[in-house]
Amino acid sequence: MSFPTIIAIDGPAASGKSTLAKRLAAELGYLYFDTGVMYRAITWVVLARGVDSADEAAVTSLAEAVTIDVQPATLEDGRDFDVLVEGQDITWEIRSAGVEANVSQVSAYPGVRKALSAQQRRVGMRGRVVMVGRDIGTVVLPEAQLKIYLDASVEERARRRYDEQVARGHSVSLEAVLKAMRKRDEIDSTRDVAPLRAAQDAIVIDSDHMDIEAVLRETKALVTG
Ligand code: DC
Repeated sequence: MSFPTIIAIDGPAASGKSTLAKRLAAELGYLYFDTGVMYRAITWVVLARGVDSADEAAVTSLAEAVTIDVQPATLEDGRDFDVLVEGQDITWEIRSAGVEANVSQVSAYPGVRKALSAQQRRVGMRGRVVMVGRDIGTVVLPEAQLKIYLDASVEERARRRYDEQVARGHSVSLEAVLKAMRKRDEIDSTRDVAPLRAAQDAIVIDSDHMDIEAVLRETKALVTG
């Protein structure tokens, strides 16, 4: 394989994709693009405007009309970038429990996926990018020269997400996080359009017994061949 300029990292929620992608992009001097942010931003708009997330037509129209911007971070509060919708900063709002509970449903609508994946593909095709999501290697950028599918058991992922929430000062129970994670997995992997699955030519890494440094080492070895 020649040195990859388009790197796709897919996998289930809380598998460590974003952390891996961020570190890898920084080391390579590539753009780090977390596509989940776009689905979360649309979901936030749906909730903020009081639209019923079960109303596919209304949600799709919003996704087609709303402009989402992801820009370099302007605040040093732990964020990797600013997420803006029509000028409003919603960087932390998209991590709320309300968005978590509705994002899988919103991202299952074909019209929403069509609108967002076209924008993602435009960015990706410029190259020098590490793009993270569920369907990057299968649908958005099938031409990516390196595809990683980062997996971990649902129990391990729930524990990581629980630790994250507690560190942010949220009061949650591990059982509730595990239940929500199972539900999201089920919706993400059984939807009709672009379900979560590893591309045929993806390299699957199971991170259950690996820390981020070990996953990064393995990925860098794949990049340099
Ligand atoms: O990676 P994340 O948890 O921020 O993703 C949020 C939701 O967005 C997730 O439930 C599935 C969806 N998503 C998707 O369908 N396709 C992508 N490329 C990225 C995210």
